[in-house]
Amino acid sequence: MRTPLYSGLGVVLVAGALLVPGNVAGAVESPDISVTNAKAHLDQFQSIATANGGNRYTGRPGYKASADWVKAKLDAAGYATTLQSFSTSAGTSYNVIAEWPHGDANHVVMAGAHLDSVSSGPGINDNGSGSAGVLETALAYAASGQTPRNRLRFGFWGAEELGLVGSRYYVNNLLAAERAKIELYLNFDMIASPNPGYFVYDDNPAGNGARDDLVTYFTGKGVQTEFVDVQGRSDHAAFRSLGIPTAGTFSGAEGTKSSAQAAKWGGTAGQAFDRCYHRSCDTISNIDLTSLDRQIDAIGHMVWNYAQKDYGDGPPPTGDNLLLNPGFESGAVNWTGTSGPITNNSGRPARTGTWKAWLQGNGRTTTENIGQSVTIPSSATAATLSLWIRIDTAETTNSTVYDTVRVQVVDGSTTTTLATYSNLNRSTSYVQKTLDLTQYKGKTVTVRFVGQEDSSLQTSFVIDDTAVIAS
Ligand code: PHE
Ligand code: ZN
Ligand code: ZN
Ligand code: CA
Repeated sequence: MRTPLYSGLGVVLVAGALLVPGNVAGAVESPDISVTNAKAHLDQFQSIATANGGNRYTGRPGYKASADWVKAKLDAAGYATTLQSFSTSAGTSYNVIAEWPHGDANHVVMAGAHLDSVSSGPGINDNGSGSAGVLETALAYAASGQTPRNRLRFGFWGAEELGLVGSRYYVNNLLAAERAKIELYLNFDMIASPNPGYFVYDDNPAGNGARDDLVTYFTGKGVQTEFVDVQGRSDHAAFRSLGIPTAGTFSGAEGTKSSAQAAKWGGTAGQAFDRCYHRSCDTISNIDLTSLDRQIDAIGHMVWNYAQKDYGDGPPPTGDNLLLNPGFESGAVNWTGTSGPITNNSGRPARTGTWKAWLQGNGRTTTENIGQSVTIPSSATAATLSLWIRIDTAETTNSTVYDTVRVQVVDGSTTTTLATYSNLNRSTSYVQKTLDLTQYKGKTVTVRFVGQEDSSLQTSFVIDDTAVIAS
């Protein structure tokens, strides 16, 4: 049983879980997301800008340095990360995508922020603040030991300031089946404005309780909110335009705080929420730490809750599959190796869906491989790799091995072959194989499938529905 660190007012302590009114069943209340840590991330963004000509603008070195730094933090915490590059009018840019490799991959909950600044300054409130908040929440989740029901994914977008270029690139390049799995996208763009307001996006109320959940959360903390119609002004618009539910918060930009707003939020009436919006003075001095603190706790609250939300299609699968895109339905995403084997070519059937890994079948001397890195938790008592394989061959022998596929584990500089299948194992229906990975607990290894054919008579090794399960 996990021991909670605190039991606050209005919070009931039952069987190790903090039950808070408004939380979904099975969710524990999120911990305090550390404003000290989030502020340290902002210091890092400021240092990166200072070392790179004063900005973190698309196509300039300060942007790539920001992306590399965020990715490294998430990698170290155990996220499966991707640096997705795309081109813009100002040069190459990058999205950093980080997925927590647990929970039901059919229900994806996303939170994101743009990571780029304008060219005129370091962009600490816009949008170091949202980036730092989403990053710190992701790191806190990884460290929490929570078992999510759903799949959490975090996005750090490039080139928002050029017109939502990165987030649009991301959603437009998702296969329709992958898009449909995204249940919610939460956006955070400017959350530590020096003269802050507490705005909740009013954009997408239908079929989406997230907007109201944010209002309820802030109200419970004694912070009044106002709805704001953000229109197309930030990255959630890329998701919303494809029908994905969105929500988000905002502490204000160039708009002026009214006296009514100053009365409920403090600060200065008649002054902009952020006088340094898009200016060189959007530095580490341009943030309000109270706003940052409240906002990041709201991000934590939403992430912890939506991680457990029941999307109504029965209990989640037992035993997490630690492999991503295990049935290849997203194409080659998450797999490395030879390009080509992962295909929806109808020349061989998939076991499920339409995609599979069709290794070899060339009928000449060739080798092909695909693989994926996976971390087996040290807490596991057992771990297995399973796969389904279908083998057809033009070889006629019943005794000689000519063509093979090897199932291997690469552990640092040591490669171990767990199993070898060959032209002698032909089967025109799929057969499931299960191999033991328990010896790799506590390690990050690459599981891979390596095909090899001799000079004539093809053998096709078709693999689908792979899984690494730790228990
Ligand atoms: N997306 C705007 C920018 O980066 C800021 C903004 C966020 C404006 C949310 C309105 C609402 O410049
Ligand atoms: Zn901006
Ligand atoms: Zn912004
Ligand atoms: Ca498949």
